Amino acid sequence: MPRTSPEVGGMGHSVKRKEDPRFIRGKGTYVDDLHLPGMLYLDIVRSPFAHAKIKKIEVSKALAIPGVLAVITGQDLARYNLHWMPTLMSDTQMVLPVEKVMYQAQEVAAVLATDRYIAADGAEAVEVDYEPLPVVVDAKKALEPGAPVLRTDKPGQTDNHIWHWQWGDRTATDRAFQEAEVTVQQEIYLPRIHVSSIETCGCVADFDKVEGKLTLWMTTQAPHAVRTVFALVAGHVGLAEHKIRIISPDIGGGFGGKVPVYPGYVIAVAASVLTGKPVKWIEDRMENLQADSFARDYHIAAELAAKKDGTLTALRIKTIADHGYTDAAANPSKFPAGLFHICTGSYDFKAAHVEVDGVYTNKPPGGIAYRCSFRVTEAVHTVERMVDLMAHQLGMDPAELRLKNFIKPEQFPYRSALGWEYDSGNYAAALHKAMEKIGYAELRQEQIEKRRRGELMGIGISSFTEIVGAGPSKHFDILGLKMFDSSEIRIHPTGKVTARFGTKSQGQGHETTYAQIIAEELGIPVADIQVEEGDTDTAPYGLGTYASRSTPTAGAAGAVAARKIREKAKKIAAYLLEANEEDLEWEPGKFFVRGTPAKAKTIQEIAFAAYTNHPPGIEAGLEAVSYYDPPNLTYPFGSYICVVDIDKGTGEVKIRRFVAVDDCGNIINPMIVEGQIHGGLTMGLAPALYEEISYDEYGNILGGSFIDYLLPTAVETPKWETDKTCTPSPHHPLGAKGVGESATVGAPAAIANAVVDALWHLGVRHVDIPITPAKVWKLLRESGVTD
Ligand code: CDP
Repeated sequence: MPRTSPEVGGMGHSVKRKEDPRFIRGKGTYVDDLHLPGMLYLDIVRSPFAHAKIKKIEVSKALAIPGVLAVITGQDLARYNLHWMPTLMSDTQMVLPVEKVMYQAQEVAAVLATDRYIAADGAEAVEVDYEPLPVVVDAKKALEPGAPVLRTDKPGQTDNHIWHWQWGDRTATDRAFQEAEVTVQQEIYLPRIHVSSIETCGCVADFDKVEGKLTLWMTTQAPHAVRTVFALVAGHVGLAEHKIRIISPDIGGGFGGKVPVYPGYVIAVAASVLTGKPVKWIEDRMENLQADSFARDYHIAAELAAKKDGTLTALRIKTIADHGYTDAAANPSKFPAGLFHICTGSYDFKAAHVEVDGVYTNKPPGGIAYRCSFRVTEAVHTVERMVDLMAHQLGMDPAELRLKNFIKPEQFPYRSALGWEYDSGNYAAALHKAMEKIGYAELRQEQIEKRRRGELMGIGISSFTEIVGAGPSKHFDILGLKMFDSSEIRIHPTGKVTARFGTKSQGQGHETTYAQIIAEELGIPVADIQVEEGDTDTAPYGLGTYASRSTPTAGAAGAVAARKIREKAKKIAAYLLEANEEDLEWEPGKFFVRGTPAKAKTIQEIAFAAYTNHPPGIEAGLEAVSYYDPPNLTYPFGSYICVVDIDKGTGEVKIRRFVAVDDCGNIINPMIVEGQIHGGLTMGLAPALYEEISYDEYGNILGGSFIDYLLPTAVETPKWETDKTCTPSPHHPLGAKGVGESATVGAPAAIANAVVDALWHLGVRHVDIPITPAKVWKLLRESGVTD
């Protein structure tokens, strides 16, 4: 039951999204909506080769086109030492190449023109003479002795190995495997996928030569961090941090893909600094799909050990992480494989060990956190597939095996074998609810009957644990920047509010939910609260929005800042009511004298007094700031059950039902959370059945347009049936956990498990996602099934 009235609209109310009127009326302001006087346009020449020496760049034909003002090459940037830039993982990435290109569609040169179309014509007229070099696209082959060394720019680099990372107790894990009564092992490949957000990346860079100030409107999920990185990289050419203003306006989806700094941004800035004119760069759809950072590309070898009675004992995983030509993953510095070591999932493993090797290949940078907080989807997919494999191996029902091994509610806070401290959870409750909702027992019965008739039906479960809210600064930083987040709340004399946050919504609805948090704490109606994010000149410093961190970090900061305001408001109320502070009680929106409810001051009256009649000895004004460093991450979870029917003739997988029970602790806005889950489920369906970016042996991208890279539309998307349990986070001020990515993390394994469940009796043990009709058809034919 919400504590506040619907008019106030605090936590638990499905307040309509404040941002939607401008979005649905086409009144949003995206980067490409900006038109500044005298603005120039940038287009980028891209490499057709995946690995090639640049022998010559001939620009004369391009420069001869009326309206083309300049062609910028790596040589030009090298004069200012701006041809390379650091990545978020302390690797290096080319802004523009001087010697060679490292992947197909890499930036080679940039054309500056008076018009977008002239810039495109100019880019086509640039002639580049390449000398092809041997290409390495297979991460396993990249590690073989004798493989061509790709990063010849790195002194001392003699192979394509980037780093080795391991976590857990190897000895205890090995011992558990030696003592195991049953083991299963499986190789699992999670292919490259792309975020494909509706808005591509872009920026408008506007350098004011008089003020020496750069204003950069850009599609970034982390404006403050980007400003600091720009200042660190370009301080030597005069761009100091206080002279850089980054504005992240409305953003059409980020999903992790708008965390990295792409070369286009840097070139546009360089072009604006050199010309003193505003410069716009907007990627087209193909550039976005082919050249921006990718997710996944994990080659996983997993092993699971258990007793015959189904008690899981140990998990051992070795992984090769294909990072493309540079490690530009947006991971916390301490964890090169992100939070992959959440791979023990919802189960009470006593021992686990995980090893990951990062590898260079001739592909664009990989490793971004695509709607999962740093490799959690990879971890969840692995453990959920392995648990299913074990259940089938043991002849146990997959639900029964899970229920037997779940971490029990009384074990929280729970320290996992890989060192995470789970805050709270009740995994069995979520699975029971999902089983009840879908009618699990009846479905199993139906499956038996169908199998008798030769029909293929499968039921798949995924009982995932997420890990979000990066993060406690003792463990989490990006390039040394601690991962706290912030909120600044200012109550104006008439009781209206401006609140600013260090995060940046890309569609999640922060303008609404942050207002609800303040409404909850201060009783001020949501309608009276203006939330702003994404402008480094005004918002307090924060690390941005990705990895479902906003609610656990900035949301918490909002609650803490509001509570600071309430403390001060109490002092003002005591003064106005001529009462002792200790005699005052709070109910949303007002302080009253205990036992005399009529003697009260509303928060609006108090706000007015803060500017017109503030008590002696207390500063005027009513505002507060909080930089919130969470004591722990939050661990949302859920249980998903998927029912599939497989067409024996075509191999097509049809999702008949999909029930998702989620738990993100206390909910701020139920409607928004449901929307997050629906979107997330569809983004989980996508890689499970459709999405994949692969490369041929020459490094040519396959799936580089939406003709080949399949996104599910409303036609392919099943009806999602959602429900929830609520296990509050014990350490978050509002008991909330993040939710944005849960469904993307949990869904693919449920679908894959359902498909294998349908085919197990035919001898199928595993299918890598995306589970295309062609893959299933082949398996059916190999098993002698014809139709
Ligand atoms: O960082 P990001 O905003 O992507 O993820 P999030 O913190 O999981 O929040 C996504 C949206 O769901 C935001 O608008 C949150 O305020 C909302 N949410 C909620 O209403 N209740 C929760 N317990 C968690 C998130």
